[in-house]
Amino acid sequence: MISSYKFPHLLSMATLLLLVAVHLHSSAAVAVVPSTEANALLEWKSQLPNRSRALFSSWNDSSSTSSGFCSWKGLTCDAWQSVTGLNLSHIAINGTLQGLNFLSLPNLTTIVFINCSLSGGIPSTISNLSKLTTFDLGINSFSGGFPVFLGYITSLQYLSLSDNYFTSTIPGSIATLSNLT
Ligand SMILES: *[C@@H]1O[C@H](CO)[C@@H](O)[C@H](O)[C@H]1NC(C)=O
Ligand SMILES: *[C@@H]1O[C@H](CO)[C@@H](O)[C@H](O)[C@H]1NC(C)=O
Ligand SMILES: *[C@@H]1O[C@H](CO)[C@@H](O)[C@H](O)[C@H]1NC(C)=O
Ligand SMILES: *[C@@H]1O[C@H](CO)[C@@H](O)[C@H](O)[C@H]1NC(C)=O
Ligand SMILES: *[C@@H]1O[C@H](CO)[C@@H](O)[C@H](O)[C@H]1NC(C)=O
Ligand SMILES: *[C@@H]1O[C@H](CO)[C@@H](O)[C@H](O)[C@H]1NC(C)=O
Ligand SMILES: *[C@@H]1O[C@H](CO)[C@@H](O)[C@H](O)[C@H]1NC(C)=O
Repeated sequence: MISSYKFPHLLSMATLLLLVAVHLHSSAAVAVVPSTEANALLEWKSQLPNRSRALFSSWNDSSSTSSGFCSWKGLTCDAWQSVTGLNLSHIAINGTLQGLNFLSLPNLTTIVFINCSLSGGIPSTISNLSKLTTFDLGINSFSGGFPVFLGYITSLQYLSLSDNYFTSTIPGSIATLSNLT
C-alpha cells in the first residue's frame, strides 16, 4: 500500500527535477556560452596593452553572445551573426595581430586597420580567408619580409600596405592577384 502510493510521487518528483535541470541547462546555454568568433576577438583583446584594452569596452564577456557581439565597435556581421568585417581605423591599438586567430573568423571579407599603431608581422593565417576582398593596413608599423602569402588570396580586390616598414620589395606572387584593382 505504501509503495504503491510512493511510486507515482517519486516519479513526479523525478520528472520535476528533470524539468528544472533542462530549464537551467537551456537558460545557461543562452546566457553564458559566447560564440567562437567572439572568443577569438576577446582572446586578442586580452593580449593588448591595458591602455589599449580600454578602447574596446564594448568588447566584453557580458555582450559576447551570438546576438550581442555583432554590435561591438568596428564589427560587421552577416544575417547569420558571423563576422564579415573588422574596421578599427584611427584607433591607437598599439599591439600586434599575432594573437588574432583568423582561422576562427572564416567569413571575413573586409579587414581595415588604417593608422592603428600596429607592429610586428602579418599572420600568414590571413591567407586562409577565402572570402577576403578588402585588406588595408595602411599607416602602421608592420615590419619583416613582405607578406608573400597574400598572393594566394584569389578573392582579394583591394590591398594596401602603404606606410609600413617591410624590408623586402613587392614580389611577383602579388602580380597573380588577377582580381586586384
Ligand atoms: C604601447 O605599448 C607599449 C608596451 O605595451 C608601451 O610601453 C607604450 O607606452 C605604449 N604606447 C602608447 C602610445 O600607448
Ligand atoms: C593591467 O591590468 C591588470 C588588470 O586588468 C593589472 O593586474 C595589471 O597590473 C595591469 N598592468 C599594467 C602594466 O598596468
Ligand atoms: C559591455 O558591452 C556593452 C555593449 O557591447 C556595453 O553596453 C556595456 O557597457 C559594456 N560593459 C562594460 C563593463 O564595459
Ligand atoms: C560562415 O558562413 C557560412 C555561410 O553563411 C556559415 O555556414 C558558417 O557557419 C559561418 N562560419 C562561422 C564561423 O560562423
Ligand atoms: C572604416 O571605418 C571608417 C570610419 O568609421 C569609414 O570611414 C570607412 O569607410 C570604413 N571602411 C570600410 C572599408 O568599411
Ligand atoms: C591617426 O589616429 C590618431 C588617433 O589615434 C589621430 O589623432 C591622427 O590624426 C591619425 N593620423 C592620421 C594620419 O590619420
Ligand atoms: C591554411 O592555409 C594553408 C596554406 O594554404 C594550408 O596549408 C592550411 O591547411 C590551412 N589551414 C586551415 C585550418 O584551413
